[in-house]
Amino acid sequence: MEKIAVKEEWRQRALITAEEYQAWYRRSVEDPDGFWAEHGKRIDWMKPFTKVKNTSFAPDVSIKWFEDGTLNVSANCIDRHLEERGDAVAILWEGDNPAESRKITYRELHENVCRMANVLKSRGVKRGDRVTIYMPMIPESAFAMLACARIGAIHSVVFGGFSPDSLANRIEDARSSVLITADEGLRGGRKVPLKKNADKAIEIAGKAGQKVETVLMIRRTGGDVGFAEGRDLWWHEARETVEATCAPEEMGAEDPLFILYTSGSTGKPKGVLHTSGGYLVWASITHHYIFDYRPGEIYWCAADIGWVTGHTYILYGPLANGATTVMFEGIPNYPDASRLWQVVDKHKVNIIYMAPTAIRALMGAGDSFVTSTSRESLRQLGTVGEPINPEAWLWYYRVVGDERCPIVDTYWQTETGGTLITPLPGVTDLKPGSATLPFFGVQPQLVDSEGTVLEGATSGNLCIVDSWPGQMRTVYGDHERFVQTYFSTYKGKYFTGDGCRRDEDGYYWITGRVDDVINVSGHRMGTAEVESALVSHPAVAEAAVVGYPHDLKGQGIYCYVTLLDGEEPTDELKKSLIAHVREEIGPIASPDKIQFAPGLPKTRSGKIMRRILRKIAEDDFGALGDTSTLADPTVVEDLVEHRQNRR
Ligand code: WT7
Repeated sequence: MEKIAVKEEWRQRALITAEEYQAWYRRSVEDPDGFWAEHGKRIDWMKPFTKVKNTSFAPDVSIKWFEDGTLNVSANCIDRHLEERGDAVAILWEGDNPAESRKITYRELHENVCRMANVLKSRGVKRGDRVTIYMPMIPESAFAMLACARIGAIHSVVFGGFSPDSLANRIEDARSSVLITADEGLRGGRKVPLKKNADKAIEIAGKAGQKVETVLMIRRTGGDVGFAEGRDLWWHEARETVEATCAPEEMGAEDPLFILYTSGSTGKPKGVLHTSGGYLVWASITHHYIFDYRPGEIYWCAADIGWVTGHTYILYGPLANGATTVMFEGIPNYPDASRLWQVVDKHKVNIIYMAPTAIRALMGAGDSFVTSTSRESLRQLGTVGEPINPEAWLWYYRVVGDERCPIVDTYWQTETGGTLITPLPGVTDLKPGSATLPFFGVQPQLVDSEGTVLEGATSGNLCIVDSWPGQMRTVYGDHERFVQTYFSTYKGKYFTGDGCRRDEDGYYWITGRVDDVINVSGHRMGTAEVESALVSHPAVAEAAVVGYPHDLKGQGIYCYVTLLDGEEPTDELKKSLIAHVREEIGPIASPDKIQFAPGLPKTRSGKIMRRILRKIAEDDFGALGDTSTLADPTVVEDLVEHRQNRR
């Protein structure tokens, strides 16, 4: 594989040299207390910390950073910039409609966040309360998150594409009685019925015993939506009834900042809990060094605020660093496939960060959508969310970046708070498809299935052997699940769930999940969740779901479905199953392939052999391996015969 060495222009503007990276990295792992005592000071503390690292992965799992320091995250993201750059743009909003944009300065952000904080307070919201946020990509989403941070409430953002059921589950799990939403969202010219979904979710949660008492609604489209007297209030009205300032609450470093639900290999989505001090230090330092961010630059992370990428790299990291962060309401191919590059030209964007799935889709649309734009403001590109295939990487590098901009392929997870493995621009030689080397304080290790540590150039399961400040602290309400999920497979290590190769230069190449999680267009999906949605359909007896390679999405969702006796395996029923999964989870979980299976391959103890199902879904049935332990080996023949993916 070709290597793209650091160019002289990149080296010249880099924040640190390659030698410094080595030295800093060594210090960060040999003397984490010293390293983080120094870098922990990059944010403002109300009361400075005296303790730095206090973490254990075994026998007990306990993670604390900067534990006796106090701070307020919103003050760090807003107030401390007011004097120097109060009139600089904090949020540069680009609407779904290319004719719409808004600029929110740090001063305006301050006023809006204070007012929203006061509105929440007026409804009795206080420290530690959970506030659910179900919003489109509008500046008010940022106001809402920062308003929570300001008063010490814990936000739980639910992606606007999730169904009422999914939203209800998250409201229940977080025991949240406050919801912030909008009348409707707007994406690709289409309306998203957020308030309508929210009303349904509130009803479902109410039946399960979780009452939502306050709904703060933002008017986005002006669409006609219901209004529950006493429960609902409009932001544009409420904001006029409160003060324009609100003193930031003094929070402990380990006080929770947010919960974000993410799918795992088993059970319901987990509430990943991040706390204040360590998370903000991590968000800020990674954003600074990985994007080589300089004051005045326009930075654009084209993710949704509903995912962790949006939390850390649209909101907290950039604002902690006083950046101008672009927030984009729309989608890459609306009105056409040149939209992103037109936005780059319109706002003179310097740094863009996006998912490989979008890059592949735009690559498929043809170069002319890119080359018809200037993009001369760009100097740095980034990717996140899934492995990027070298072809897409090279297209991004050559066609989008005109071979002028380094690419940072950043590997991380909801659980890790921010990036773990990444190149640093002007520092790290690049290899298309590799996330390259660990960030400061991150110690990757590859182990085999028995947990034996593998050295040198090899492949294995990716673990991280010690804590870093941005690490999640627990699963909300279920610490035992936290310990079980991440620290029990390989005792004393954090297991990422990813497979990985390390090459002869020590570069890391993430190969994808090794558990029952699939990655669809950069979104994590638990196969168990899709299965449970399928079996809740009245025609279904049993279901097994696996991922398969998909040209655009990275992985597609392949479902094997066994019907109840008497049900007919028709195309109509397939459609109904797809609609049902979309209803239950949301459009992101839409099955790509459904295969009706009279039987599933099971061991004699009744365990479904997913290895076989994966192979058949990949159309690789010549390599099924040992099927002799199956209770009924003949089911495999039928599955192969009726497979849906054929080359
Ligand atoms: C999973 C985490 C990180 C924010 C967005 C996704 C995969 C993420 C990369 C990358 C290869 C990647 C992993 C990981 N992943 N970034 N640069 N190269 N794989 O967050 O939903 O928590 O998903 O995404 O499989 O475990 P998430």
